[in-house]
Amino acid sequence: MSFTMPINQHLSKSSILLALATSAYCSLALLPGATLAQSDAPAGSTAPSYLPSISDFMIATIQPRHVRAWIAARSGDWSFAGYELGNLKGAFDRLGRAHPMEHDIPLKDLIVSVTAQPFEDLHKAIQSKDWTAFSKAYTNLTSACNSCHEATNHGVVVIRAPTDLSISDQNFVRAAQ
Ligand code: HEC
Repeated sequence: MSFTMPINQHLSKSSILLALATSAYCSLALLPGATLAQSDAPAGSTAPSYLPSISDFMIATIQPRHVRAWIAARSGDWSFAGYELGNLKGAFDRLGRAHPMEHDIPLKDLIVSVTAQPFEDLHKAIQSKDWTAFSKAYTNLTSACNSCHEATNHGVVVIRAPTDLSISDQNFVRAAQ
């Protein structure tokens, strides 16, 4: 008993000292950072929100799914082709909601008008696991991509159907010709 008390006291004292030292160190270390962060932010604002650009949508949510739907159908994986077609449609819907207008062009309406028919035909082709019908509808979807690029003055972006030799869906060679 007479031995344990001093040890416990000693331990508790040093724990308190350590805690105090740590918290003082942390306050000193954090204070300038916190002050800096506050003074950097415009008054009354929270973190800036990020709205993906049309280009971000295209390259991150639309182009990969356009390719993957083709690979799936070409490989005979019709369930995945159907899944990816649904995701591609969803990506276009989100794009239309995020950017309903592109300068004077009603992007949301344009998306629906150029993609509705190819999407319907692709859906049917996938349901009936028909590669020939898929291929035809896919060509029409790809033309829809390019017709919108032309209409929005981005004809420089040339989309194509992937091939067995190259699964890329973009024609980079055309610009070099
Ligand atoms: C309704 C209009 C519209 C449709 C449909 C459309 N696009 Fe686009 N796309 C655009 C616009 C506008 C841009 C240019 C965005 C920019 O640079 O500001 C673009 C740009 C792109 C780019 C270039 C992005 C970059 O950063 O290099 C790719 C790739 C692309 N689209 C793929 C596709 C594919 C694949 C399809 C069809 C499945 C498609 N797009 C259908 C409007 C469309």
